[in-house]
Amino acid sequence: MSKAATSAVRARVVQSDLGAGAALEPVPDEGALQVAVWSANNPYFDEKRLERRLLLVGEHRINIRQAWKPDGKGGTEIGYGAVVYPSAVVLADELREVALDGKRVVELGAGHGFVSIAAAVLGAAQVVCTDGDEGSCSLAAVNVADNSVEGTVEVSRMLWGDEEMQRAVRPPFDVVVAADVAAMVYEEAFASLVECLLAMSTEESLILLAYEKRHGTERKFFHKLAKFFTWEERKPRHPDFCDVEAMWVLQLKRKPR
Ligand SMILES: C[S@@+](CC[C@H](N)C(=O)[O-])C[C@H]1O[C@@H](n2cnc3c(N)ncnc32)[C@H](O)[C@@H]1O
Repeated sequence: MSKAATSAVRARVVQSDLGAGAALEPVPDEGALQVAVWSANNPYFDEKRLERRLLLVGEHRINIRQAWKPDGKGGTEIGYGAVVYPSAVVLADELREVALDGKRVVELGAGHGFVSIAAAVLGAAQVVCTDGDEGSCSLAAVNVADNSVEGTVEVSRMLWGDEEMQRAVRPPFDVVVAADVAAMVYEEAFASLVECLLAMSTEESLILLAYEKRHGTERKFFHKLAKFFTWEERKPRHPDFCDVEAMWVLQLKRKPR
């Protein structure tokens, strides 16, 4: 097949992680030709370039639009909020083990909003889905509407460390989540990210981060974090990531003041 023909087919593939044995159903995308069973271990499949992804969280199907561009920032002004990263898949899966009923949840650096939508379908009473990037917030709002969780998920632009924006989301929260935010590209914002985690939480809050180790630079984040938080690290429960060396789930606890 020519290169052009290959990319035309790729552009019309819709991802599903329903598993190899799952019955295939028509996906809600008139352009879709086939459903490709997704696995993080599939080297032939670049899920970042898909316009849509259908992700499974427990028995819930979440339909996520992506907006990847090869522009050096992945299609957003701050960068990389336009596609679902493995950390987000891991974190959404971890939320299945959390008692979310009646809880208020905030997500930091939410990008497309997948983890916030997962928190809503898993029973959270209220979710505030935040990102500092306007384009990411617009994309998240579309995904929230597509998944019919507007009654539970509010999208709010919030830059880490911006006191006014942080007050506007009405902290503290019972549960604070963030996926793939301790990344080298955000090194200058590491101190603000720690400030934001403090502003959103109390000593009773459950704080979960999903982290993909890529560069030594990220150590600087953990160095700053250690002034205010302790944490336990564990491997993801998600079967596609439990053996991936770089993937970690961190449960943070605030140090008493
Ligand atoms: C690598 S993306 C991860 C997106 C999503 N959480 C995931 O794992 O798929 C990091 C996100 O953090 C957001 N971000 C980066 N710096 C930020 C800042 N200073 N304040 C708020 N959000 C920021 C970006 O806009 C982006 O959406």
